[in-house]
Amino acid sequence: MSTDKKYDRMAVVYDYFEEKLNPFDKYRRIVAGYLRGNVLELGIGSGANLKYYDRGLDVIGVDFSEKMLAKSELKRDRLCMDKVKLVKMDIEDMSFENESFDMLSSTFVFCTVPNPEKGLSEAYRVLKKGGRAVFLEHMKSENSFINIFLYVMSFFSKLIFGTSMVRETEKNIKRAGFKIVEKRDLFFDILKFIVAEK
Ligand SMILES: C[S@@+](CC[C@H](N)C(=O)[O-])C[C@H]1O[C@@H](n2cnc3c(N)ncnc32)[C@H](O)[C@@H]1O
Repeated sequence: MSTDKKYDRMAVVYDYFEEKLNPFDKYRRIVAGYLRGNVLELGIGSGANLKYYDRGLDVIGVDFSEKMLAKSELKRDRLCMDKVKLVKMDIEDMSFENESFDMLSSTFVFCTVPNPEKGLSEAYRVLKKGGRAVFLEHMKSENSFINIFLYVMSFFSKLIFGTSMVRETEKNIKRAGFKIVEKRDLFFDILKFIVAEK
């Protein structure tokens, strides 16, 4: 089953989990605090970040799962965030012009994008020169012992969500051309907050 269909299938459960348990609340707040200007949110999913955004923030949220986008739409309307637009689009092949956005945000996305290198090079393309991309992402550790657990988890997470626990996302961000200007390890070196500049 393709990843977009997996997320269509999981949308209700994902949204319930994020809304009720809200496990990444303090990290989502940090991401939201950085965003200015016109923002592209990659893989907006069920819109878990929307409640942290300034009501007037100018955001385009893209995702390839219709059912996740439908959850975002409900939240956007409930929060009366008229400047949030939602578009069904593949991050690996976006229809935006080069250098369209002041900032990008991506939370828990590049573990799932089927071809992350392609997605990140598209992200780089649509960001303005000097613009910043804010990432909250989990990834492979530098510690082989931790990676044993991540590989086991990855077997199941790939099957259910199409999500890998062992992506080299920090390296992939650099390979796409971004310069990392800020980095915080939030949980060991697995969960990271990264700000990268074009
Ligand atoms: C783990 S969820 C994260 C959702 C949201 N960003 C959050 O923080 O809760 C990953 C999201 O990325 C989307 N996604 C993955 N690959 C994508 C792609 N190539 N194009 C568009 N959306 C993609 C999935 O549909 C899913 O909604």
